[in-house]
Amino acid sequence: MKLKTLTIFLAGLIVSTQVAAWPWSTDMMNQPSIKPQEGPPAAFPKRSIPTIGIPTKVANRQEAEKLKNPIKPTAESIKQGRKLFRIICAACHGLSGKADSPVSPKIGAIDLTSDYVQQTLAEGWIWGTITFGSAIMPAYGVPNEQGGSNDLSPEERWHVVNYVRKQLVRDSAGMASAN
Ligand code: HEC
Repeated sequence: MKLKTLTIFLAGLIVSTQVAAWPWSTDMMNQPSIKPQEGPPAAFPKRSIPTIGIPTKVANRQEAEKLKNPIKPTAESIKQGRKLFRIICAACHGLSGKADSPVSPKIGAIDLTSDYVQQTLAEGWIWGTITFGSAIMPAYGVPNEQGGSNDLSPEERWHVVNYVRKQLVRDSAGMASAN
């Protein structure tokens, strides 16, 4: 009796493994969808892979200095700039902008709340610094193949400028009193 059960079980096992090899077992695979490496690659969604980067119309910081800030420092722009500042700039210049991050003294990052940045520098120059980098500071608006990271679109760079010039000093004062 036991042997018979085992035989039925084994027979069932053999049949079920063979079933997997029958032609209709692959029916689900053979459908009109596009298979890997098949056909021309689909276009990537906009800005998903910045292979060539966002073209910047000015060639360097000197040219950028003359640019007029095209983005009004609205609450929305400053909010965006603040977010980006905290993601990108704060690592070197500190959350407060006062060059108080652990790496600031090691690389010579400057205080962005200083009169030099708040008054002497033109907004276009600050935008140009973010775009093309500076002596040590990396470029955030230049394609990878030209040595930049291209992390910020031209508009985003203006948002950061708006934040640095209109709100950073105030935020920074708030942080000092919180300590
Ligand atoms: C990897 C570190 C690093 C990051 C990130 C960084 N900076 Fe800097 N930045 C520096 C250093 C170092 C200097 C001073 C030396 C130099 O000019 O390169 C500097 C200088 C500057 C200057 C002065 C330029 C001048 O002409 O004297 C400005 C303005 C500035 N940074 C703004 C920013 C803003 C805004 C961001 C964020 C988008 C940012 N930095 C991100 C390291 C950094």
